Amino acid sequence: MSAGVDPGEYRRVAGRFATGITVVTAVLDGTAHAMTVNAFTSVSLDPLLVLFCPEKIARFHDVVTGAGAWAVSVLGEEAEETSRWFATRGREIDGRLNGRPSHPGPRTGAPILDEAIAALECRTHAVHDGGDHSIVVGEVLGVSSPDPDGSPLLYYDGSYHRVHPR
Ligand SMILES: Cc1cc2nc3c(=O)[nH]c(=O)nc-3n(C[C@H](O)[C@H](O)[C@H](O)COP(=O)(O)O)c2cc1C
Repeated sequence: MSAGVDPGEYRRVAGRFATGITVVTAVLDGTAHAMTVNAFTSVSLDPLLVLFCPEKIARFHDVVTGAGAWAVSVLGEEAEETSRWFATRGREIDGRLNGRPSHPGPRTGAPILDEAIAALECRTHAVHDGGDHSIVVGEVLGVSSPDPDGSPLLYYDGSYHRVHPR
C-alpha cells in the first residue's frame, strides 16, 4: 500500500465508486473458466477497446492471458448468486461453468451467460502491468443485448444493489 494512505480508508473511499458487475469467461485447452469482475471499463471508440483488471494471483489471470480471447457478460439484477459463485476463491472448476446456463459467443467461442443483460466478445489487444493486477485491453469483436430491458446488478460500498430497490 502506498505510503501515507491507510488501506481501510482506501477501500472505503474506492468503494464509493458504484459499478456494474460482469463475469469474464475464456476457454483454455477446451475448458471454460469464469471470474466475477467489476474492474471493467470501455476505453476507446476507434479502435473499439475495453479493459478489465484480473489479479495476478487469480487462476483466471493465466487462463485469460493464455486464451487470447474472452467474453464479458454484464449481470442482471437476478444474478447475485452467480456473481458470488464466480468470486469464490478455490471453487471447483468443472469446465462447464458449474451448471450456469451459457452459450458459446459466435466470435470467440467464450461462453456468454444466459443471465447476461449485455455481452461483449474480445480479442486481447495488450496486457499492461498494473501492480498486483494486470490491465488486459481487448479489441471488441462482437456485442449482443440478450435482455435489452433487463436491469443491472450493481456493486457499491462492498455490497450488492439494484437500480430499483425491491
Ligand atoms: C463484486 C466483485 C468484483 C470483483 N472484481 C474483480 C476484478 O475486477 N478483478 C479481480 O481480479 N478480481 C475481482 N473480484 C474477485 C475475484 O472474483 C475472485 O478473486 C475470484 O474468486 C478469483 O478466482 P480464480 O482465482 O479462480 O480465478 C471481484 C469480486 C467481487 C465479489
